[in-house]
Amino acid sequence: MSFDLILFGGTGDLVWRKIMPALFQAFRHGSLPAGGRIVGVARDDLSDDQYRALIKSRFDNVELAKRPSEEEFSRFAALLGYLRMDLSNPADYAGLAARLQQRPADVVVMYVATAPSLFTTVCEQIAAAGLNGPQTRVVLEKPLGHDLASNRAINKTVRSVLSEQQIFRIDHYLGKPSVQNLFALRFGNSLFEPLWRRETIANIQITIAEDLGVEKRGAFYDSTGALRDMVQNHALQLLCAIGMEPPINSHADAIRDEKLKVLRSLKPWTPETLGQHVVRGQYAAGNIDGEPVPGYRDEKGVPPDSRTETFVALRTEIANWRWAGVPFYIRTGKRLAGRDAHIEVNFRPAPHAIFKASTSGSNVANRLVINLQPKDGLELHLLAQGADQRRGTSSLAPVQLDLDFDKRFGSERVGAYERLLLDVIDGRLNLFVRSDEQEEAWRWVEPILDSWSNDSGAPRPYAAGSWGPSAASAMIARDGYCWSEEC
Ligand code: BG6
Repeated sequence: MSFDLILFGGTGDLVWRKIMPALFQAFRHGSLPAGGRIVGVARDDLSDDQYRALIKSRFDNVELAKRPSEEEFSRFAALLGYLRMDLSNPADYAGLAARLQQRPADVVVMYVATAPSLFTTVCEQIAAAGLNGPQTRVVLEKPLGHDLASNRAINKTVRSVLSEQQIFRIDHYLGKPSVQNLFALRFGNSLFEPLWRRETIANIQITIAEDLGVEKRGAFYDSTGALRDMVQNHALQLLCAIGMEPPINSHADAIRDEKLKVLRSLKPWTPETLGQHVVRGQYAAGNIDGEPVPGYRDEKGVPPDSRTETFVALRTEIANWRWAGVPFYIRTGKRLAGRDAHIEVNFRPAPHAIFKASTSGSNVANRLVINLQPKDGLELHLLAQGADQRRGTSSLAPVQLDLDFDKRFGSERVGAYERLLLDVIDGRLNLFVRSDEQEEAWRWVEPILDSWSNDSGAPRPYAAGSWGPSAASAMIARDGYCWSEEC
């Protein structure tokens, strides 16, 4: 099967940081279909060879094991080409059409890795140039809009020129092997399903912590913030994966229908819950790995009086029969104590205690930890008879079963962008987000955005290198629980 992959924003950050390394890995693994062409599109005046040289130099920033040798790069580079285009100029799309017609491909993927403001222009112009035929698939990066209205407007325009089957809205968290394993854990095994409900589960915590700051994206980030950047998409997709009913099969719409139901069941916000169950923070100067780092307001591109949140913690509930009353906590932030994404499923304690309570943990309930990154695996925390047994005190000690997927599957693992790009080329929509899911997620976060814009207060400061503002701990403590690092 021949394919053309057109990368709008071909000289941008995303292309050289994520997309090209992923395409190279697919090429190295032999999974990129033969007969493909990859064409970078941008405003710069470059020849094909200059573009190849630019991409080659960018590979110097990629981790060593994923860098091509000279020989590998020259074979990979044979797939690469470049086209200069001004994306707002309709005439330039004729040049693209001519390039594509030189050798018509079975599949044409248009990857729109540009500023979000260009998404609709590119889609409209592709259609005006007659490039929206059934062989075309369009990949749209996040953020798709900055609120419900703008998201709807984008979806409306895009759907006026493409069918839903042609639109691949990317959320790279869905491509992570660890998230695939979450689906496998729930729907490929029967062990946990009977326990996966309110009768046995006390609370669920989703943490996506980053130790990085906003890097070179200060200006972009300042108009976005953690709620739009991480919660509306990645965190809510994880919540759906944890909370959804088993889909009837593995088809894209069967999965997406179930995720949509979760989003529709999220408890609506009230003035009280907005006040008590949402905490926003912003990092101040601090230390990461023993090195001093500046506060958010001192980052390049960020106004000194910025009120943009770099941290969010919130509590919600899925209001349905399976989950009624079970708190789901989400927290995410930049410049936190470490890079650590995990989900904790906290089970209820044994209903009747016959063992002696001890400080070593006999009153601690069972816990399933799904590690997403940097570790990728499962931990099952149980209680067992420990050293005290000889003294006949019958108290319990915590023990844990540990499963490390990186060790087990090692080099067979496929990175998120690699997996998702191959899915687009093959036309598999399972791991992409449907417009109604995306709109529902915006509908749910919008009251939070509105309450912040009506509030003259600023986010709570937290020191870089900490776990966020203490109000996040107070929020969960009001329910009698604590975040994993505090318990
Ligand atoms: C992106 C956000 O979607 O996800 C970034 O825009 C964030 O701000 C990144 O750093 C996190 O992705 P990962 O895969 O490094 O956890």
